[in-house]
Amino acid sequence: MSETLKIRRTAGALGAEIEGVDISRELSDRVIAAIRAALNAHQVIFFRDQQLTPDQQVRFGARFGPLNIHPYVAGMTDHPELMEIIKEPQDKLNFGGGWHSDMSFLERPAIGSILYAVEIPEWGGDTLFASQAAAYEALSPGLKRTLEGLKAVHSANREYSAAGHSAQKRSSMAIAEAEGLAGEYVHPVVLPHPETGRKALYVNPAFTIRFDGWTARESKPLLDFLFQHCRYEAFTCRFQWAKGSVAFWDNRSVWHFALNDYPGQRRHMRRVTVDPWPETMATGAGRRAEAVS
Ligand code: SIN
Repeated sequence: MSETLKIRRTAGALGAEIEGVDISRELSDRVIAAIRAALNAHQVIFFRDQQLTPDQQVRFGARFGPLNIHPYVAGMTDHPELMEIIKEPQDKLNFGGGWHSDMSFLERPAIGSILYAVEIPEWGGDTLFASQAAAYEALSPGLKRTLEGLKAVHSANREYSAAGHSAQKRSSMAIAEAEGLAGEYVHPVVLPHPETGRKALYVNPAFTIRFDGWTARESKPLLDFLFQHCRYEAFTCRFQWAKGSVAFWDNRSVWHFALNDYPGQRRHMRRVTVDPWPETMATGAGRRAEAVS
C-alpha cells in the first residue's frame, strides 16, 4: 500500500481531507504519526470511501489512545467502546444536535472522536465543526487574560438527566439516564493543546454550567457571550457525509454540531472516542467541582 498521504485543507479555520490511506488496515507507526500530525495541524480531518468493520474501527481508534466507554450511551454488544449513533425515519430528535465537544463532563475528557458513516440520508445530515483555537485567537488581549485565570465546571446532568434532551427517545439508541446528579468537573477555560501548545477555549453550551467559584447566575452573561462568539461562521467548516466517510476531530479544540435536517430518513453512524493516555493529560485531570450558592 502507498503510505503517502495527500492532505487538502477544506476551510479557512479548520478541516482537511486526507487521501491515500485505507484506515481499515494495520497501519505503520509512520502513517499513524502522519495522521496525528494532520489532526494537530487541522483540528478535524476527513477520510472518504473507507469500509470499516467494528473491529477495524476499534483497532484504528486504539492507535491514538485508550477508548472511552460512554457512561450514558450503550455501546455495541460485542464492542462496548463503539457507539452507534442512529436516527430512524420516525425519530424527531438526533444525537449531538447542538454545539458541544464530546465528554468534557468527565474528569479526564476525551481527546478525540472518530465517526464513521454506515448509512446516510439522501440529503441533509451534515456535521458542522468550529475551531475553538480560532475563537480564542480572535478575542481581545484583555479578555484572553481574564479567561486564562478562569476554570469552568462541566456536567452531563442537563444532557443525560430524565429532563435532558438527550434522554428523549430515539428508537435505536439506548441512552442510560444519569443516576441522580452526574458528577461536576472543573477544567481550565483556556486549554493549551498538549502537543502543539496552541491555546483554545474549552467551554461548550452542552456541558459547561458555570465558572468555578462563580454562581450560575454570575456566570451566565460571560458564558452566553462565549457560546455566541465560539460559533461565529468564520471559525467553522461543514462536512457533507457519504457512505464510508470518516471524520476524526480533536475534542480539546473543536466543537461540533450534527444537523437535524433530514426528517423521515435514516442516518446511522458509529463512533469511537479516544481518551488521553494517563501520562499525557496536559491539563491534569479535572477536579470535582465544589458547590457555590
Ligand atoms: C456526535 O455528536 O458525536 C454526533 C455527530 C454526528 O452524528 O454528526
